[in-house]
This record gives sequence, C-alpha cells and structure tokens, in this order.
Amino acid sequence: LIDFRSDNTGAVAPEILAAVAEANSGTAAGYGMDRWSAELHHRFSDLFQAEASVYPIATGTAANGLSLSVLGPPWGAVYCSCHAHIETSEANAAGFHSGGLKLSLVEGEFGKLSPLALESAIVESGIGLRQRSQPAAVSLSQASELGTVYSLDELSTISAIARRFGIRIHMDGARLANALVHLGCTPADLVNKAGVDILSFGAAKNGGMLCDAIVVFDRSLVEPLEFRLRRSGHTWSKMRFAAAQLLAYVHDGLWLRNAARANTVAEEIGRQMAAMDGLSLAMPIEANEIFLNVDGRVMDGLERDGIGFFRRGPATARFVCRFDTTESEAEALLSSIRRHAAQIQAIPLGTEHSTHGSHR
Ligand SMILES: Cc1ncc(COP(=O)(O)O)c(C=O)c1O
Repeated sequence: LIDFRSDNTGAVAPEILAAVAEANSGTAAGYGMDRWSAELHHRFSDLFQAEASVYPIATGTAANGLSLSVLGPPWGAVYCSCHAHIETSEANAAGFHSGGLKLSLVEGEFGKLSPLALESAIVESGIGLRQRSQPAAVSLSQASELGTVYSLDELSTISAIARRFGIRIHMDGARLANALVHLGCTPADLVNKAGVDILSFGAAKNGGMLCDAIVVFDRSLVEPLEFRLRRSGHTWSKMRFAAAQLLAYVHDGLWLRNAARANTVAEEIGRQMAAMDGLSLAMPIEANEIFLNVDGRVMDGLERDGIGFFRRGPATARFVCRFDTTESEAEALLSSIRRHAAQIQAIPLGTEHSTHGSHR
C-alpha cells in the first residue's frame, strides 16, 4: 500500500526509540516522580515561556476528554467546530470524563470556528438560565481536522471573546507542530495569543511512539486534573519511559523538523494536484493534509493502484502526509492520479460506466 491514509500509520522517529532504550537502565521512582518527568516540566515551561505542568497520556482522545473535564461543571458547554475530533470521533469522551459536559457546535469556514459565530453562540446560550447548559470553554484544533491553521490574529480574537465571557480555552494540538511550522512562530507565541489554559499536545502523529501529553498552563487546573488522571487510570507507574519519549520529541527541534517534512510534502503534492485538469483543492493546505475535489472514478483508479487514502464524500478525497512519507510515495500518488484524471477528461460526459467504491 502506498499510504496516505493518516499520519498515525507512520514509523516512530529513531531518536524516540533510542531515548526509551536509554531510559532503560537502573531504577526510577514511579508515577511521575522520576527525573525524566521533572525535566519534562522544565523543558516545556521553557518551550512555552510559562510554567507548564506536563502529563504524558496514551491517546489524543484521553488528552482532550480529560482536559475538557476540568474546564467546566457537568452542566457546562464546550464550543467547538462541527469538524472537531472531539465532536466527530471521541464518543463524547468530554461528557464521559466530566460527568456531563455538552459540545456545542459553532459554524465557521475551512474546519475552524468563526469568532463571530462563537460570540453569538455564547450570547444566545442563556447564561444563568437553569434549564440551559452554561458556557464553560472553547476548544480549538490547531491544526484543524481539515488541515487548516488558525492565524495568530484569529486566535487573539477568539481569546478576547472567551475572556470577556469568562470561559476557558482548550487547544487540541494533535498536530500542533504542523501548525507551528506553518505559522513560523514560537510555541510561546501560539499559546499566549490564544490564551490557552490547557493543551492536548500531540506527538504520536508526528513520529511519536505511544504517548501524547496534557500541558496545563492555568495552575488552578493542576489539582483537579491530577485526580482525574489517576482515577481514570492514566497515571502510569513507569512514567519515565513516557517522559523520555516526549523529551526526545522536542529535543533539538525534532518535532518541528518532522512536521516541516510532512507539511512540505503535502504542499508540493497539493500544488501539483491542483494544476491537473479536473482537480482542485477543497481546502487550503496549511499543514500536512490535502483535501481534494476529485471525481469518484479517479478515486476508484487510485484504489486499484494500491494508493491508501480516505474518501470524505462522493467527490472529495483526503490524503495525509507523514514525517516519513517518501519521495517515491509522493511520485507514485501523483503519477497514479495524473493518469486517472487524464482518462476521465478524455471520456465524453455521460458515456462512462462508473463504479463507485465504498465510502469511508
Ligand atoms: C485533531 C485530532 N485530535 C485528536 C485526535 C485523537 O487522537 P487519538 O487517536 O490518539 O485518540 C486525533 C486523531 O486522529 C485528531 O486528528
């Protein structure tokens, strides 16, 4: 398979495997009381230029659900885009971990929520009314699920609205490194502009192994989060090996180098696809994902050629680039799509016999 299905299909960066092996000597205290975990706290505080408590965690879903669970009462509402992973793909983990939080969908373009729509949603929420969920937080995916990135200005505007209404900000950074590379700003800039209170920090999709993290900036969230982590079974006893993965991930810019590779390949593939007859980009490419408007018969052809990708509609395909996507994979995808797109162009409309594949 020539694999453009997801960025979680890739390998583990060798630096991370080496760091786990290196941590594998002698004994260390359990449950985050080891020296790797202490270093993680310092390293991330440095990176974000703010005191940051870092909790390694197994999955992005757990990071999101547990982060949101400390942001509101069970009758709270979390504002997010209808494309947000927390809405589409986490079986309402936020509601589960918090004992009731509800997701409230906010409109916007290109997978991002619009500040104006957010403001109206909060205004119309019925603040104080006992029969309504109460605004608790806004959750922003950076980069978004549609491969776009909030600009620093957009983040400042959203942050100002959230502050005005006294609600907190969660960032789903499953692809934070891809967004950072696109913006060309520092992690501190990004988090400060957005006024992030709590961050789901992704690593697995970008060369990580078995661990993401929750990063807490609002000190009042530390204690409730630590209890919730423990009672939901996320406080690993052998935490040093998780901390070692994350230390290696950010060491010497590895995370940014990996993301830059994935973003660059996506941009190049997208540029070439958009230049082909009959194809156009459905979304701007700002991270490592390509959403393409493409005839279903071209998608059938790609599948026959052994190209892995996801159909996101009858005429939309998603291709995801990884830190380890190779040039030959990119060339194979481009040459397959070029061939099938040209064939479709050559067939007069209405004379074709289409076989639409399954819809995932
Ligand atoms: C934007 C976003 N957030 C969170 C996640 C959750 O990650 P996990 O699959 O580790 O639960 C994903 C995974 O696809 C994602 O794309």
